[in-house]
Amino acid sequence: MGGRIVSFHLGGWSAQRLARVEEALSAWVPADAPAGLGTAMRYAVLDGGKRLRPLLVLAACEAVQGHCEASVRAACAVELIHAYSLVHDDMPCMDNDVLRRGKPTVHVKFGEAQAMLAGDAMQALAFEVLTPEHGVPAALQARLCSLLARSAGHAGMAGGQAIDLASVGQPLAEQQLRDMHRRKTGALLQASVLMGAACGPVSHAAWSALAAYGDALGLAFQVVDDILDVTSSAAELGKAAVKDLDNNKPTYVSVLGLERARAHALELCAQAHAALARSGLADSSALALLADKVVQRDN
Ligand code: IPE
Ligand code: IPE
Ligand code: MG
Ligand code: MG
Ligand code: MG
Repeated sequence: MGGRIVSFHLGGWSAQRLARVEEALSAWVPADAPAGLGTAMRYAVLDGGKRLRPLLVLAACEAVQGHCEASVRAACAVELIHAYSLVHDDMPCMDNDVLRRGKPTVHVKFGEAQAMLAGDAMQALAFEVLTPEHGVPAALQARLCSLLARSAGHAGMAGGQAIDLASVGQPLAEQQLRDMHRRKTGALLQASVLMGAACGPVSHAAWSALAAYGDALGLAFQVVDDILDVTSSAAELGKAAVKDLDNNKPTYVSVLGLERARAHALELCAQAHAALARSGLADSSALALLADKVVQRDN
């Protein structure tokens, strides 16, 4: 079964960057890992996904005229962490999903143990990719590892996923929901922006503005994910629809209702633009387009 067609294009700018990321991922995710592990890893990472996180890394790096090789490595590393989080998120012990990126999920195709190991290996590979022997200054490698680790671990994605599972059937207050979404999804998206920014010289003011942009965009992304779960079809999404309701998960739609959730996504998008406007960066147009795309997307 073929993978899902990537549909997060921003014209010529993104087509070229996406091609570079696909090529690098294909070169770095090993086909020859033992006992079929490489096949499962490549199935999970290649041939699908919108690649929003890599595009954010590259757009932020270009906005600060940063180190090109470091940014491609950071783009692939963050996508590896994201793809691993999806493999585990889909497993029966978590969301129990059978469709991802238009294909059967990794555990359906390769079994649960192999899915767990593929996720583990992809997480480790992300940090291998960030730490080449040559080509990226050691201090930058350490900075990128630190940003990624902090966003993926207990304080970020994994912590948010733990709250998500503990919240099934719970009537969360909006503030608790925001905290969960910021961790489980927002942290890695914000880290994508900051990893790109870390690749170049960046003023304190620009760094804080990009952090605010990433925070608003990251939260908006999961608000829209919650909305699409009820408004889109599995064919459009490449993953099951109406899953959050079925799984009794608190979401922006269940807490605020559809219309207020939509208004909130637009508000967050406006906050992301306002942050870019005060960043003082000469050219943040790709970052601005990516913020619009996050709220206008239909998959
Ligand atoms: C889905 O992320 C999971 C969430 C964090 C909401 P994406 O919608 O970015 O998934 P892909 O990478 O395009 O498949
Ligand atoms: C997933 O959130 C966030 C991750 C860290 C993977 P969801 O469970 O809502 O993502 P989808 O809807 O399955 O893509
Ligand atoms: Mg989930
Ligand atoms: Mg899920
Ligand atoms: Mg979802």
